[in-house]
Amino acid sequence: MKNHKIGASILSIPFKHFSETYQKIVSSGVDFIHLDIMDGNFVPNLSFSPAMSQEIHEMSGKIPFDVHFMMTSLAYKQTIKAFLAIKPVRVSVHIEAFPSLEEVMIAIKEQHIEFGVALNPDTPIDRIQAFLPQLDFILLMSVNPGFGGQSFHLDVLEKAKTLNQLRVCYGYPYLLEVDGGVQLSLVPALAASGVDLFIIGSDLVKQKDPAEYIRSFRALCQPIS
Ligand code: DX5
Ligand code: ZN
Repeated sequence: MKNHKIGASILSIPFKHFSETYQKIVSSGVDFIHLDIMDGNFVPNLSFSPAMSQEIHEMSGKIPFDVHFMMTSLAYKQTIKAFLAIKPVRVSVHIEAFPSLEEVMIAIKEQHIEFGVALNPDTPIDRIQAFLPQLDFILLMSVNPGFGGQSFHLDVLEKAKTLNQLRVCYGYPYLLEVDGGVQLSLVPALAASGVDLFIIGSDLVKQKDPAEYIRSFRALCQPIS
């Protein structure tokens, strides 16, 4: 049976309740924390600094981190080491920001971190065709990057289906991750399209009982008999 996982994007946690809400999410049964790192250039927003990321990591026990860099290649080169200090299990960068992926892919894989490429909603799959055999995962953005709480772009379902067919056909090893505007009602269609890793931000953060939400997610991922 397929091992679907849910990751919490913590971008939308209100700062004044950060610690309390974050602890509830960490102990909810979520599989990993998705940390969005923004540079104010590739996307029109800023998020967590290296020092903030380190502090958040220290509040997190053993839960794995998945880091999504929404950064230009220059900003990434200047800051990579500081963010990698939290030892993420997965790191993604955007193909729109890294026209040549080789250098960053080698740098991440050398650290024994899974490497993924993120695609904006309007970026076609062709842009990453040459890298498919080497990717550990592909992050399909279902909103334009930069902000939490936006509406899901349905077109991502077709992209996931195509990438799923390609990996079955050619034996590619990548997992499929979807990020942006995801709610529980979308989970069955996304799972049926081949999505393995589900990032949920604002819909999870606003829950009074995140543990119940995670249980509902797992129930929706069960195969229908
Ligand atoms: C958007 C981020 C997402 C986002 C997810 O740029 O990459 O991770 O915060 O949050 P929701 O689920 O609220 O869209
Ligand atoms: Zn993200």
